[in-house]
Amino acid sequence: MPPLSNRRLFTILLLFGLGFVITHHCSQPHRRPDILQRPNDDQAEDAFPMTQPVVSPKSYSTSILHSTQPAGFWVFSQLYLHRGTIYAVTSTTEEKESFPELKFILSQPIKMGPGSSGDKAHPTHKEMAVLTIEEADILFGPLEFALPFRGFSVILYDVSQFMGHYYHWWGELMLGAVKSYSAITASPQYLGAPLEPSRFLIPHVDEQSWRDRAGVNEPLMQAAFQGASVEAKGYWDKLKNTDQTFVFEQAMLVSRIAAHKDPLAGSWGKMIGSTMHTTVPFRFWEPLRQRVIRNMAKSCMGKVAPPSRPRESGKPLVTYISRQDTPHRRLRTEDDEDLIKAMVALDVEGICEFQAVKMEKLTFPDQIQLIAKSTVLIGIHGNGLTHQIWMPSSTQSTVIEIFYPKMYLHDYEILALNVGHKHYAVWNDTFITFPTGETFPGTRIGPELHSSAIPVQGKVVAQIVRQRLAAK
Ligand SMILES: *[C@@H]1O[C@H](CO)[C@@H](O)[C@H](O)[C@H]1NC(C)=O
Repeated sequence: MPPLSNRRLFTILLLFGLGFVITHHCSQPHRRPDILQRPNDDQAEDAFPMTQPVVSPKSYSTSILHSTQPAGFWVFSQLYLHRGTIYAVTSTTEEKESFPELKFILSQPIKMGPGSSGDKAHPTHKEMAVLTIEEADILFGPLEFALPFRGFSVILYDVSQFMGHYYHWWGELMLGAVKSYSAITASPQYLGAPLEPSRFLIPHVDEQSWRDRAGVNEPLMQAAFQGASVEAKGYWDKLKNTDQTFVFEQAMLVSRIAAHKDPLAGSWGKMIGSTMHTTVPFRFWEPLRQRVIRNMAKSCMGKVAPPSRPRESGKPLVTYISRQDTPHRRLRTEDDEDLIKAMVALDVEGICEFQAVKMEKLTFPDQIQLIAKSTVLIGIHGNGLTHQIWMPSSTQSTVIEIFYPKMYLHDYEILALNVGHKHYAVWNDTFITFPTGETFPGTRIGPELHSSAIPVQGKVVAQIVRQRLAAK
């Protein structure tokens, strides 16, 4: 049976809400909308004993679910929404006064850029406010009448700027959300399950803008969070345009600009940098990774040939993602050939199995299955390396990122650190890698980054692979 469509669910909630408001706030309870008229109105009334709240008033207040929330990835229980503004409701004035600064939780919905670093991006009362229970009662009525969003909601409070992109959606928003949530489940006070969101809400982004051009964000969402919907701006606007108050039972607020308020995010140049000091369970990403692999395999069952050649040798698979058919960020033709030769030599020697692939030639499920079998991923700086999040983590798993010499960005290094691979940056005839806790200072970007003649010495890459695969 198909799940209840969100629009229908919304309508039901809304009508239910209207019934609620009218029943409890009007002096003439019988003037309810026709839709709620039943043959025996008194019986219907009894079926909803809504004037009898079953929980103590204390539990209506908002709690922060973890003591060390990474900026931009905060988790709450009982978070309110009224006329488009998010409210945290505290039991006492003291709690209200000691509530964390909202700039670490969200920002105004503006683009990242020069204007987003200073005070101008800080949230105003339009985005979020902290109220005491008494203040909330005056502003939007008794908290027990708020309509609940059951389960776990993830609210991605960004504008569309970085959403419709595999790396930014999966490597930052989703990885960051799963990581921050896993930090809560790891804490001894919390006995919850791994992140199983009921819905994602993107208040400032329309239906289309979070879907990337390559069309991978959406199938991966289905594979990872079966049944969770992604509700765009239109849905949020409907919530905003009623007088009803809503309450998220549990919600994570994800905000890129807020994450960048953490100095660590600044030094990495990546929002997920704010989570780099967060204590998480070992291989926190693994359950979700396995589920995606399993579900992606199901989605191609019977439709396409099994991916790549079968691996009979049991040797680790080294996959080189070639960009030679793309206009930018390509290797010099002879260096591409040398790299392949050097790697084939390792294959012949029996050290690994080697495959050079052009991802655009494979179906998406095939790409994922190939990555899932790989131990080493070699590629030029680019979105192809986002695929490493589906590669199993092990003592040998390695990402080798080729840059034009002297260029450096942390995108794929920070992914590798988070999902548990050793990362190497290769500059032609040299390479750099960092021990835990250290990284390249700052970023180096220039037009050469996108060169169509990036130099690389195949033997340098082969040397890294040999060394890594010798590790046990
Ligand atoms: C790349 O390395 C080779 C071997 O050391 C060297 O001959 C060549 O000049 C280097 N190329 C660039 C562009 O640095």
